[in-house]
Amino acid sequence: MNTSGEVSIRPIAIIGGTGPAGMGLALRWARAGEAIIIGSRDAQRAQQAAAAIQLRAGPQAKVSGMENSEACAAADILVLTVPFEGQAALVKRLKPAMTDGSILIDATVPLAASVGGRASRTLGVWQGSAAQQAAELVPDEVSVVAAFHNLSAELLGGDSPLDCDVLVCSDDPDAAQLTRELAAKIPGVRAIDGGKLENSRIVEQITALLIGLNFRHKGHAGIRITGLPSGAYR
Ligand SMILES: NC(=O)c1ccc[n+]([C@@H]2O[C@H](COP(=O)([O-])OP(=O)(O)OC[C@H]3O[C@@H](n4cnc5c(N)ncnc54)[C@H](OP(=O)(O)O)[C@@H]3O)[C@@H](O)[C@H]2O)c1
Repeated sequence: MNTSGEVSIRPIAIIGGTGPAGMGLALRWARAGEAIIIGSRDAQRAQQAAAAIQLRAGPQAKVSGMENSEACAAADILVLTVPFEGQAALVKRLKPAMTDGSILIDATVPLAASVGGRASRTLGVWQGSAAQQAAELVPDEVSVVAAFHNLSAELLGGDSPLDCDVLVCSDDPDAAQLTRELAAKIPGVRAIDGGKLENSRIVEQITALLIGLNFRHKGHAGIRITGLPSGAYR
């Protein structure tokens, strides 16, 4: 996979992109010049969401909306922003539409709220994490990256820089690097190599902690990793 300078001409399909997390990422990347496809189970809802992003990002932005499987087939960078309860069934359904060499960037957090529990707790996932569950379901030629779990969707959907680091976990170094480049396009975000995909279990759980902190202190908590050499944040 070529990661040198080609990010801006390849569309990014955000699957489940009509929710706050997907819309926030779409807005930030559209402003950074990325071509965005918003995916939804409903093409019309996707187009409405795309129009809303286009309005905010400006006339130069490249944003369109499609049904999820069409979005999947039209891009080789896929970002998954759906609730955990829908993740596995959706990935299985989209599998035939995924092209060889694609990367799937998974932001799913297995919150207990998915089964009626508390949002400040995570569920145990048999595979270890939601991202590892996705990795088990995609075609062999598709690389899975876990990222963006700890960004507040509310802040992403605003206009100010974020005060948060993004930990990127994957077993594919090239896919991880491309994802870090995309993360670094969000103002205020530093992207850090978080190691193997199995580390996504820990990163996903941090989100539940952040949600608990938000409840307790009425804020929008994020994370910053300190003490690493500057090269770690590239
Ligand atoms: N919100 C945050 O601050 C935040 C931050 C980091 C990570 N996350 C994680 O990112 C994911 C998305 O978060 P969100 O708050 O944007 O979620 P959301 O609003 O609940 O859902 C996002 C979109 O997913 C689609 N969807 C809902 N249920 C589905 C199902 N059963 N099957 C397939 N698609 C379904 C819907 O789009 P359509 O109806 O248009 O198909 C919905 O607009 C979650 O896993 C969340 O834990 C969220």
